[in-house]
Amino acid sequence: MNREKKLRLGVLGSGKGSNMVAIAEACNSGAIPAEIALVISDVADALILQHARDRNAHAEFIAPGKFRTKLDEDAERVFIQRLTEARVDLVVLAGFMRILKGDFLRAFSQRVVNIHPSLLPAFPGLEAWKQALDYGVKVTGCTVHLVDQGIDSGPILAQETVPVLADDTPESLHARIQQAERRLYPSVVGAWAEGRITVSGRRAVWK
Ligand code: GRF
Repeated sequence: MNREKKLRLGVLGSGKGSNMVAIAEACNSGAIPAEIALVISDVADALILQHARDRNAHAEFIAPGKFRTKLDEDAERVFIQRLTEARVDLVVLAGFMRILKGDFLRAFSQRVVNIHPSLLPAFPGLEAWKQALDYGVKVTGCTVHLVDQGIDSGPILAQETVPVLADDTPESLHARIQQAERRLYPSVVGAWAEGRITVSGRRAVWK
C-alpha cells in the first residue's frame, strides 16, 4: 500500500454527520489511507459542518438554490468547482439529502459513493429502515454503492446485514443500522483508497 499518497475525500452531508465522523476518525488514526479534503453541506446549520471543523477539516455551507430535492444549476456548478479546487479523488455522500445528476456525475464519473440504510435493491428511497420493518423482513442492513443517475440504484460495493428483532421500533432498528454504517463506510473507503475494489458493469470485485 502506498501510504504517501492519501486519497482525498470530499464529503457531502445534510444532517448530523455520524458517518463523516467515523470516516474522519479512520483517516486521522491512520486506519485508512485517506484524508478529508473538504466537507460541504447544503444546510447552513447542519451538525456535520461543526463535527468537521472540530476535527480540523475544511467545511463549507453552499446554498442549494431554488429546488427542494436537487441542486439548482448555479449551486451544482459551485459544488463541482469547490470539489475540483480541493482536488477531491472520491465524493462521499453521507446523509446528503439531494439527488445528484447529469453534470455532477459526469464531473466525478464512477467516483461518487453513497451509504443507504437497507440491503439494496430492497427499500430504496426515504426511511428505508421503516420500510423494512413495515414489510416484515427478518434481516436488513446497509449498502455502500456507487451513485448513478437513478435513486439508490448504482453498483453495490459492500453490504452489512442487521437482524430485525421482534421488539424493534423504527428508532431502535435505525440505531443498529447506523452502528453498522459506521463500521462499513470507513472500511469501504479504505479499500477504495488502497485500490482493492474494481467495478465491472454492476459487479464490484474486492481483492
Ligand atoms: C445515514 O443513516 C445514511 O444511511 C443515510 O443518511 C444517514 C446520515 O446520517 N444516507 P449521518 O448524517 O451520517 O449521521
